[in-house]
This record gives sequence, structure tokens and C-alpha cells, in this order.
Amino acid sequence: MYTANEKRYGEMKYNRCGKSGLKLSALSLGMWHNFGSFDDYGNMVKMATAAFDLGITHFDLANNYGPVPGSAEENMGKMLKNEFAPYRDELIISTKAGYTMWDGPYGDHGSRKYLIASLDQSLKRMGLDYVDIFYHHRPDKETPMEETAMALYDIVRSGKALYVGISNYSPEETQKMSGILKSLNTPVLIHQVRYNMLERTPENGLWSVLEQEGIGSIAFCPLAQGLLTNKYLHGIPANSRAAGSSKFLTSDRITPGLVEKVGKLNDIAINRGQTLAQMAVLWNLRDTLTTCLIGASRPEQIIENVNALKNSAFTADELKAIDEILA
Ligand SMILES: NC(=O)c1ccc[n+]([C@@H]2O[C@H](COP(=O)([O-])OP(=O)(O)OC[C@H]3O[C@@H](n4cnc5c(N)ncnc54)[C@H](OP(=O)(O)O)[C@@H]3O)[C@@H](O)[C@H]2O)c1
Repeated sequence: MYTANEKRYGEMKYNRCGKSGLKLSALSLGMWHNFGSFDDYGNMVKMATAAFDLGITHFDLANNYGPVPGSAEENMGKMLKNEFAPYRDELIISTKAGYTMWDGPYGDHGSRKYLIASLDQSLKRMGLDYVDIFYHHRPDKETPMEETAMALYDIVRSGKALYVGISNYSPEETQKMSGILKSLNTPVLIHQVRYNMLERTPENGLWSVLEQEGIGSIAFCPLAQGLLTNKYLHGIPANSRAAGSSKFLTSDRITPGLVEKVGKLNDIAINRGQTLAQMAVLWNLRDTLTTCLIGASRPEQIIENVNALKNSAFTADELKAIDEILA
């Protein structure tokens, strides 16, 4: 049985999530890749325990993470039982439903039928009585938002989740869902959205809605799945996501134009005395983001990425230079 580092809360920063009572570690660990059926369980344990030892308290899942769908939750369940049993109250575990999970009309989207059944399945896979955050994973234009909101409200009332979140909602959808859930006294805790130096859409309206509604923010793919690191500067390494079987990062994304820009960003990172991965994490956290949701394929990456917090904030010139490279 693993014993956690006694100094785990010494270095990490904890940010208040919107206007809630909950604080989240500035970095969170996601289990979308490398925690599925075909991955090495020993490596998962090393990554999850390395993260916790560094003060990461928040672990993010979804019903469909794997492959096979559901297997990341099963592996998390194994780790919760084998490694983290004494630490449940020090952990924030989230899961989601909203994408296709099972066949037929009830295993997808945003109906009450799907959300409640899916969370029940997730809890079973993880061996938990409750998750800390349950998300609606993506907006559903066909289900009335009131129905999705009522399901989230009832999930919280039933004690199966402590807080609710939404993911991939537009600013307008976020505003509407926030209003409905506020009227039910179950405010949206957090919004999970793709945000990194290459993907800045949330700056066009989402951040201001979150601020106005008092909702926290968690950015996924802060390293653009590894593109915002130095690993693809000289080709595609064999042990990288782009070389593997993930359909979410294919080698055709790594174009000469992108490599040129990433090379210039890498020069700025070197001048700052950090790696590009570290600069990408710190850039994510430069403003008002609650937490930066990293992924990893090995524990060393988590250590490197958490160490980003030791470096100083950006100068206005550095931020301008980054904007110019990516314009
Ligand atoms: N809500 C949503 O719709 C949604 C969608 C996508 C993701 N997410 C969440 O966001 C989490 C993170 O997504 P992500 O895994 O794409 O995040 P990411 O942090 O952008 O990419 C992680 C990948 O980058 C590489 N990497 C990490 N640190 C590195 C370092 N220091 N040096 C070099 N390479 C490094 C690793 O890939 P290699 O295999 O190449 O080593 C790692 O698996 C997911 O696990 C999930 O929880 C949510």
C-alpha cells in the first residue's frame, strides 16, 4: 500500500473554484489517455501517486475514457481501493456523461435517463458512493436544458455527486444553464473547456460569462496533447501520442508551419529557463483559470509540469512575443 508524501501540500497552489467553497490544485490530472484497458497498470499507479505526492488533488475522468470505454474508471477504482483508500477525503474525483457510451437511444447526449444511469455505472466502476464533480460532457441541442439541469440537481440531492459542472458549452449555453441551475440552488461549479496557446476561443466570451456567473474554469489539453512541448520539433518520436493509436492526435497535425511556430515558442521557454511544456502550463494559469488539466504518459512529465509553478510570471513583452508567433 502506498504512503503519500508528507510534504505534498507544501508547494502546490490551490485556487478557489469560482464563487464556491471548493479549492482545486492549480494542476489537475486527466485520465483520458494512458489509463485504459491496454495501458500498463503499474505506470498508472506511478503517475497517479506522483501527482498526489506533488499536491495534485483533482483527478478527472469520464464514463467513456479508455479504450475500452469505462476502463479508465475501472482502473481508477482499482487505484482508489489499492493505493488511495486512506485519502478519499483529500481527493476530488470527477466524471462526466454526454458522449456515446452504450448502444441505443439512452446511452448518449443529455437526457435524465442517460445521465442518471451513466453516473450509477461510473460509481460502480470506481467503487465509490459519490463523485465530487459530475459533468454534463457536452451540450445537447435536442434535450430541453431544463431536463438536463433537473437531472444534475437530482444527482446532487441524491448524494451521488457533490457538485455539478458543464463542459464544451458555448458562452450563451453556459449562461442559460447557469441561470437554471442557480434557480435550483445547485450552481454550476466549473466549466471544462479546451484552452491552450493554439486554442483561444474561450477568450471570446466564455471567460466573461464564467466571471459574471461565479463559475470556476478548468482547461483541458493545455499542451495541445503534446504539440506544445519540444517533443515534435525533430520528427515524431515512437513513444508519443501522435505515433500511437489515438484518433485524437494524428501525425498529419504536425505540419512544417506548426513546427516552426512551436520552435519559436520553445526559444522563448528556453530564455525563461523552462521547458516549453512548463511554459504552456504557466501560460494557461497566467490569468484567472482555476486549474490546468494536464494529461501524461509517464510520471516524469507530471513532475516536470508541476515544476512550472516555480517559474516567474510572464513579462508583457513575453506575452506579446507569444501572441505574435501565433497570430
Ligand atoms: N471535457 C472534454 O471534452 C475533454 C476533452 C479532452 C480532454 N479532456 C481532459 O483533459 C485531460 C488532459 O488532456 P490531454 O491529455 O490532451 O492534455 P495535454 O496536457 O494537452 O496532453 C498530454 C500529453 O502531452 C504529453 N506530455 C505531457 N507532459 C509532457 C512533457 N512535460 N513533455 C513532453 N510531453 C508531455 C503526453 O503525451 P505523450 O503520449 O506524447 O507522451 C501527454 O499524454 C484529459 O485526460 C481529460 O481529463 C477533456
